[in-house]
Amino acid sequence: HSFTLRPRVPRPRAACRVIVAQAGGGYKVAILGAAGGVGQPLSLLAKMSPLVSALHLYDIAADVEGVAADLSHCNTPARVSGFTGEDELAGCLSGADVVVVAAGVPRKPGMTREDDRFGANAGVVRELVAAVADHAPPGALVHVISDPVDSTVPVAAEVLKHKGAYDPRRLLGVTALDVVRANAFVAARKGLPLADVDVPVVGGHAAATILPLLSKARPKAAFTDDEVEELTARVRDAGAGGSATLSMAYAAARFLEASLRGLDGHGDVYECAYVQSQVVPELPFFACRVRLGRDGVEEVMGSELRALTDYEARALEALKPTLKASIDKGVAYVQQHQ
Ligand code: NAI
Repeated sequence: HSFTLRPRVPRPRAACRVIVAQAGGGYKVAILGAAGGVGQPLSLLAKMSPLVSALHLYDIAADVEGVAADLSHCNTPARVSGFTGEDELAGCLSGADVVVVAAGVPRKPGMTREDDRFGANAGVVRELVAAVADHAPPGALVHVISDPVDSTVPVAAEVLKHKGAYDPRRLLGVTALDVVRANAFVAARKGLPLADVDVPVVGGHAAATILPLLSKARPKAAFTDDEVEELTARVRDAGAGGSATLSMAYAAARFLEASLRGLDGHGDVYECAYVQSQVVPELPFFACRVRLGRDGVEEVMGSELRALTDYEARALEALKPTLKASIDKGVAYVQQHQ
């Protein structure tokens, strides 16, 4: 009798274990600025990730408690908690595997991304990243969305250095929106299936520093000089009408998922990101393709910079002084505010 019953019992349990193993993950993600235009839809998308088991939402605005309560009703595995006010920041960061910094002031029409918000957002990033150094585990990855990314990532690096907590592999400026836009615009222009297109975007994350490398687009496509000019300008200026929120949230969620897959030990996770590198010797921070793994950025590729077209090589030279100035500005800001 016992033999007729036994086989039935283990089967569903074994199946269950397989599902859990496939889902992997169990990561804790903290989103800072979670009540904002980017933060809210990003929190929703993160709540849908099978790799996330705990979602900590922080904002100085008390609305974040409502956002957390609202999201907690979605029947996906991640447990959602809201944190508001500086007193609760430490609790939000405790145990986080990835901290996404999306707090700050968005760009209004007519503002230049580089200057107008620098003062406000540099202060916000400085304060939040200092708290990350104090309260998040040493291995936590930090994703910086707050603009101007060209300067706020150097701000974050300097703060972490002063705290003795800097690991360049774990600090990533989010330039994924530029890639998402380049993919969408190239697919539309060339009549290609959207899901297949992959355009590396290098340089920085300001209108003058973004450089889509159309010659390295996959699938390979031929572009006339006019198309190169038009598409490059379109990607660079796509944010000029005001700050993106939904497409930014999508891009940030895609980037978050890639980072989590890297942490989870999947091979072949490649994304463009703005990180410390020596790919361009005079630029200590540069956006290019990186390989993401268990330690964050495991390899800065840079191979996409080989065999550039004349147009791309000229554009790369032209963006260097602007990007260098933005990096220096971030470094100087932290030195002045010690
Ligand atoms: P938003 O104003 O709608 O939201 C910002 C949120 O940050 C607000 O809820 C605010 O209460 C919160 N906040 C401000 N100071 C804070 C602090 N010290 N601690 C915690 N929370 C704080 O702005 P939005 O549209 O969500 O943009 C957020 C940031 O992302 C901006 O800096 C924006 O420029 C940037 N951004 C970056 C993009 C990128 O491609 N990297 C694209 C789009 C936006």
